[in-house]
Amino acid sequence: VSERTLIAVKPDGVQRRLVGQIVQRFEQRGFKLVGMKLLQAREDILSQHYHDLHKKPFYPNLLRYMSSGPVVAMVWEGHNVVRTSRLMVGNTNPAEAYPGTIRGDYSVHISRNVIHASDSVEGAQREIQLWFDRRELVDWDCCDHSSSYQV
Ligand code: CMP
Repeated sequence: VSERTLIAVKPDGVQRRLVGQIVQRFEQRGFKLVGMKLLQAREDILSQHYHDLHKKPFYPNLLRYMSSGPVVAMVWEGHNVVRTSRLMVGNTNPAEAYPGTIRGDYSVHISRNVIHASDSVEGAQREIQLWFDRRELVDWDCCDHSSSYQV
């Protein structure tokens, strides 16, 4: 299996109907979608997902934001997908995110930054296990577009 990452469209992205455009960017870049679901994130998942932020002053607001509506959780696979996704997503603070990145094109404030992307290969593995059951991930392969992500 090549590298995988967890991407999540946050509640503001779902409410603003940005899911399709975000999915399109990852498909166009050449990554392969191997898992996707819409869900209202439970507090225990969010608490584990943001385990390193519990002491931050913005943590209660972050939990409220992430619970304010459904999220779309996805697993994308491909060459260097963790690093490349972070570049596509842009800086955590949309004010610092370059135009052309997802946050740089769709958001203006750090507390409503539209999308999550795992920050390391190890983090991605942990997050994928947290958000997805193994049976929800589909190993599929097809001939036609594989050359765009396989080296
Ligand atoms: P992300 O990098 O996906 O994961 C941590 C999230 O915490 C981050 O996106 C923001 O949504 C949120 N966050 C980080 N820093 C702040 C901040 N200073 N104020 C509010 N929210 C923040």
